[in-house]
Amino acid sequence: MRAWLLNDFKGIGSLRLAQAPDPIPGPTDAVLQVHYAALNPADRYLAERQYPAKPRLPHILGRDGMGLIVQSPKSKAQSPTKVQSPKSSAKDPNDFPAHVRTGEKMMVLRGEVGVDAPGTFAERVAVPIQNLVEVPPGWTDEEAAGATLVYITAHQALTIWGGGGVQSPKAKARSPASEPRTASSAFRSPALDQSQSHEVVLVTGASGGVGVAAIQLAAAMGHTVLALSRSPEKRKRLVELGAAATFDPEQPTWPKEVKDWLSVNQHDTSALGRVSLAIDNIGGTLLPQVIETLGDLGRVSVVGRLAGPVPNFNTATLLFRRIRIGGVAISAYPPAESCSAWQQVLKLLSKTGVRPIVDSVFPFDQLPQAFDRLAQGPLGKVVLKVAA
Ligand SMILES: NC(=O)c1ccc[n+]([C@@H]2O[C@H](COP(=O)([O-])OP(=O)(O)OC[C@H]3O[C@@H](n4cnc5c(N)ncnc54)[C@H](OP(=O)(O)O)[C@@H]3O)[C@@H](O)[C@H]2O)c1
Repeated sequence: MRAWLLNDFKGIGSLRLAQAPDPIPGPTDAVLQVHYAALNPADRYLAERQYPAKPRLPHILGRDGMGLIVQSPKSKAQSPTKVQSPKSSAKDPNDFPAHVRTGEKMMVLRGEVGVDAPGTFAERVAVPIQNLVEVPPGWTDEEAAGATLVYITAHQALTIWGGGGVQSPKAKARSPASEPRTASSAFRSPALDQSQSHEVVLVTGASGGVGVAAIQLAAAMGHTVLALSRSPEKRKRLVELGAAATFDPEQPTWPKEVKDWLSVNQHDTSALGRVSLAIDNIGGTLLPQVIETLGDLGRVSVVGRLAGPVPNFNTATLLFRRIRIGGVAISAYPPAESCSAWQQVLKLLSKTGVRPIVDSVFPFDQLPQAFDRLAQGPLGKVVLKVAA
């Protein structure tokens, strides 16, 4: 088969399109003939040795993709106790082989594919069956190719805190009058909080794969979404996708503009005119400014660091508003948790009827150009057409 091979860890420039042996599936792997794959910044990090995984070389990158099952697994999946966490609502893993049939169209759900195991920038890839999900009805192949990783990431970023947003007056009326708003009440169960809390969610790098997914999911949850993008054209699109307002992070005055906007437009007293949850894909010099916009008990879900380390950070900025910063890592999800998060994502998307946003589709032999596009800052996902 043809595959993009990574022969060293000197970066994306080292990738070469070459012949590679067909994948040898394990007993619970299916073989997917890849139709479309999608790019993620983590592919570049891995190619530059900036990622914890150190796969055997030559490696094949690519965590996302969809295609046809050309070989179904020989054995049943692992026992439920190995892959299913007690709290998960995911399907019984022993059901997985039943829905992984030869000739079926499926998508890769987050796992080791493209990380420690060979990935989707190849004509065929072996995928553990618990890391495969059906293409949702009505989605195009291109939309399906890059959806799972970014939506699960955005979902985790929105839900890791177990709620804690400032209650809307409606929610306050429903909750017991005696319940004081204390720091510990900010850590209630997600189910309770998701039904009660209205968040003002600020998304940085909002035009990217994770950013667009975060806007769509947060809007479906009923939150007010504020989005940052450096591009005026993309800012217009982000409003169409569900952002209530957008701001230019290259304007030093943007944190004040956010506060001014909230004081005029946020009538339900949420976060007292401040952001309650920030989803940060950027880091760098932007993070201290993001913290400026947060209200009492504001939280930052740290997803990425496209602008690198934060150069100068005063921890005192966290103290008086009791601000909390937490990391997002979808690699922490076992397969059943990913599956459960994916089901919740689909439920949310079906509420608003939105679908994944594809920025561009590149032919298989133009993977380096596709990575250039990703580095420029896409709107949605950059997709690679492998075969169709
Ligand atoms: N923690 C996890 O589990 C997890 C999972 C998935 C992704 N991630 C990380 O999350 C981050 C975002 O991923 P993504 O897929 O959304 O990326 P992406 O598709 O490349 O988009 C990110 C957006 O951020 C903006 N941007 C890019 N470089 C920037 C820079 N140097 N300074 C300021 N803005 C910049 C661009 O928007 P504008 O041009 O519109 O400003 C771009 O569209 C990455 O660091 C990725 O590795 C983490």
